[in-house]
Amino acid sequence: MNDLKDIIEEIKSRCDIVDVISDYMHIEKSGSNYTGLCPFHTEKTGSFMVSKSKQIYKCFGCNAGGDVISFVMRWENVDFMEAVKILAKRCGITLNRNISEEERQKIQEINKFREIHTEAARFYFANLLSRKNPGYEYLKKRGLSDKIIKKFGLGYSLNSWNSLMNHLLAKGYDKADLVKCGLVTHKSETNKYYDRFRNRVMFPIFNYNGKVIGFGGRVLDDSLPKYLNSPETLIFNKRLNLYGLNISKKSIKDDTLILVEGYMDLISLYQNNIENVVATLGTALTIGQAKLIRKFAKNVIISYDSDQAGQNATLRAIDILLQADIKVKILNLKDCKDPDDFIKKYGFEGYKKAIDESDYYIKFKIDILKNKYNLQNDTQKMSFVEEATLLLRRLKSPIEKDLYAKYLSDLTNISIESIRANVGIKVKNNYNNIKNNTNNRKIEQMSKIQNGYLKVEAKFIKLLMENKNWRNSV
Ligand code: UTP
Ligand code: MN
Repeated sequence: MNDLKDIIEEIKSRCDIVDVISDYMHIEKSGSNYTGLCPFHTEKTGSFMVSKSKQIYKCFGCNAGGDVISFVMRWENVDFMEAVKILAKRCGITLNRNISEEERQKIQEINKFREIHTEAARFYFANLLSRKNPGYEYLKKRGLSDKIIKKFGLGYSLNSWNSLMNHLLAKGYDKADLVKCGLVTHKSETNKYYDRFRNRVMFPIFNYNGKVIGFGGRVLDDSLPKYLNSPETLIFNKRLNLYGLNISKKSIKDDTLILVEGYMDLISLYQNNIENVVATLGTALTIGQAKLIRKFAKNVIISYDSDQAGQNATLRAIDILLQADIKVKILNLKDCKDPDDFIKKYGFEGYKKAIDESDYYIKFKIDILKNKYNLQNDTQKMSFVEEATLLLRRLKSPIEKDLYAKYLSDLTNISIESIRANVGIKVKNNYNNIKNNTNNRKIEQMSKIQNGYLKVEAKFIKLLMENKNWRNSV
């Protein structure tokens, strides 16, 4: 944990805002929140509110508000880093190095960009829900309920060049910052500024702690690009974040997450009560994302599109997930093109069944391989078995090896013994490969003995060559 950003996240997750504020002042539980007399202005009836679920405080009298760090800043009258240090001490985290001026500025910029994104998400959300607009109509046409629209904070970017920019400028933000956030585009040739997202349905992208870090925007018709995403910024890294994890991390079942390709796939599954889902952000799965998944789940079921592109992406994702020590299964979408399609056609029960029937990744790989060969032709059949054998040899568990050797034997009508022999080892003297089962160990011992004989023999011949008397007597 040497990235300051991580340290701050850690501090915030350890310092519950209700506990911290209770140490400073009296607050009382009231419904799902806590209330008290605002410490930042004088009042007789409490308009100061603390939310445990959102980890924020807010005064409806003087408008003070923010997270646990901002509370400590105000109460103690200290700057950001000083407040971080106080909280770090409280929760037993040692900030064992001095923070440079540069880092301090970076942290402040990160906070500012996050604020801007939250404000933009609120704006898009209000556009979608407060008046009639084509974005809302589109989402209704796609079958999304109001409840799910709110859950994912979906929004609409108006069909206008500057509405978001003007809104944020009016809130006091800097034009240059809006450009750095990727929300406003600057054309240097004409020196014009305009909103990046226009007339699109907006999907706010949250990090796994629930902070808005970017957006995906979908067109309302068939024009291209279908989705426009935020560019990489100080707070948005497509390779290290996953869509939906902030929500699905609360619903992980059987230590398993389902991985899909699209925002709409995830939301559609969620609406149909399949809640343990995450999606990539328009790029191929990365090892960073796989490691993030591994923090939350040991098993992944890949549920990508069923077309050729989806299959290729699945093959790549398998290898990446395995590298992150994740157990991988593949869900079969049958006649449907993507999970959204599937759940609309077969419903919760159908998808649940597909989860239960999902194949261990090695079977998926063998099946894909099989499609490249014509098994009626003997030469091709042998090539197929050779290639499939390579896959099986890489498996660590002898039980898995045996199970899928059986599968391969059934597919090809080649005897299980031959396949096992092939999968096990190439015998003759090459005992480097020999490790796993008892048969192999026997072979290994035999090879060692044989090797022993060979050594004695060689010594003996050497002696005979060196010594005439020995030769004669032999
Ligand atoms: P899809 O084309 O499968 O979109 O791309 P989808 O999620 O099924 O959406 P609908 O149902 O057609 O509306 C899958 C994902 O790839 C990224 C997006 O993250 C999308 O959700 N993508 C796709 C882009 O980033 N840009 C694009 O132009 C297309
Ligand atoms: Mn799709």
